[in-house]
Amino acid sequence: MSDNRLIIFDTTLRDGEQSPGCSMNLAEKIEIAHALAELGVDVIEAGFPIASPGDFEAVKTIAEQVTGPIICGLARCNNDDIDRAWEALRNASKPRIHVFLATSAIHREFKLRMAKEEIVRRAVAGVARAKNYGVEVEFSPEDAARTELEFLAEVVERVIEAGATTVNIPDTVGYAVPEQYAAAIRYLKQNVRGIDNVVISVHCHNDLGLAVANSLAALKEGARQVECTINGLGERAGNCALEEIIMAIRTRNDFFKLDSGIQTRRLMPTSRLVARVTGMQVQRNKAIVGQNAFAHEAGIHQDGMLKHAQTYEIMLPEDVGVSRTELVLGKHSGRHALSQRIRDLGYHLDNEQLNKVFDQFKTLADRKKTIYDGDIEALAELVLHSGPVVWTLEAVTCNGGSGTVPSAAVALWHKEGVIHRDAGTGDGPIDAVFKTIERITNVYVKLRKFSVTSVTEDEDAQGEAQIEAEYEGRVLRGRAVSTDIIDASALAYLQVINRAILREQIKMNPQTGPLGSA
Ligand code: KIV
Ligand code: ZN
Repeated sequence: MSDNRLIIFDTTLRDGEQSPGCSMNLAEKIEIAHALAELGVDVIEAGFPIASPGDFEAVKTIAEQVTGPIICGLARCNNDDIDRAWEALRNASKPRIHVFLATSAIHREFKLRMAKEEIVRRAVAGVARAKNYGVEVEFSPEDAARTELEFLAEVVERVIEAGATTVNIPDTVGYAVPEQYAAAIRYLKQNVRGIDNVVISVHCHNDLGLAVANSLAALKEGARQVECTINGLGERAGNCALEEIIMAIRTRNDFFKLDSGIQTRRLMPTSRLVARVTGMQVQRNKAIVGQNAFAHEAGIHQDGMLKHAQTYEIMLPEDVGVSRTELVLGKHSGRHALSQRIRDLGYHLDNEQLNKVFDQFKTLADRKKTIYDGDIEALAELVLHSGPVVWTLEAVTCNGGSGTVPSAAVALWHKEGVIHRDAGTGDGPIDAVFKTIERITNVYVKLRKFSVTSVTEDEDAQGEAQIEAEYEGRVLRGRAVSTDIIDASALAYLQVINRAILREQIKMNPQTGPLGSA
């Protein structure tokens, strides 16, 4: 690999999944892994195999099914973790085991209760064990950014001797600032024997909003692997955002002089996919993939743009997969145009699913003059979620208004083919719908957030309901779209209920999951 080729290590499925409320099921992880391969990442960290049977299964399946990138599994520095990681990765065409052990004084003293010598010994033994399987080995001194530089250099040198070919320098708690983080990389370059024969990697958390800046500063000092996630997903304030790093090195190639294998036009579709699967919406003003990232509101800016786009635009929206004008589809649009748009919106549908969406698209186009992206997303969602769920909505009605007791009547299909009906009251008509759904399904969740917004701006726009609820300490999200907001709310709530049932079933049968697939 040339000296200016940057290795993109995506950890959306591992560190990203650790962010609260973002856990994904097996099918979702596989879908994302395929999208990451299509995006052109070099390494996919698919999970932490020993963490749970679900994590193990995800790493194993991705290792078997996803070709192209290196597939990596995380392991602590102990035999069980490393052996389990190997079990999950053994069928990958390019496997990597990523072993980590904390090195900072605070972790040594309070978390591990280990002296420096013991840390070095275990780090070396862990790397050697992983290396024994004949795989590529990456080592991370956890909390490296708060580790004494001399000790950090010692650990790094010893793991290189033991066979690590990538050494990652994590800023685990997002404490570093760019100059200091860059200086740490420089120090390692100057003081570690053998460092020029391995790849230096960076892994920055965003607690101070500096993850991307710190990573970029380290690249200037010779780091050649960046660990990042789509949409900057991750623990607490998240990890370094892949799309931001990529567009920074591309837009400022004059300064960084680095290339990557990323297909930048897949950035937006991949971002949408991850947002949809995790339920973690991207903030509107987020760099690169936020809804406003390429919107110009101020008159002076718009005037400048009309005279010469580069007056206010440093990147072309097309280059990150954003079309300059929203492509509007209508009843005369063909299957090909629809399927292309669906792909650009981040959905990977098979032929059967595509046919279903096309049929429903035609029906919607008879009711609605113009079909926008939001409408297409809604159709794709519907088809994707029409898979094996326990409860589906047959009908819902509700009553409200001043002077009446809010009430609702709901009919739900159980997957065994039985229809259940009930009616009830609530603090408002929507509350009555939710309470009735709970009574029918006998699943009770704690509603934390509920919103209804319109998906497009036209008069006959569809309503999108989003729900966040708590179930046994876990956050579950639901989202649904319909021309009727009561319908949308009931569907979103039912999605949460189905996810809660799924969780229960996974707990009881972790190997196969609830319905044999997810
Ligand atoms: O933040 C961190 O230190 C990590 C390691 C496991 C690399 O995620
Ligand atoms: Zn991390």
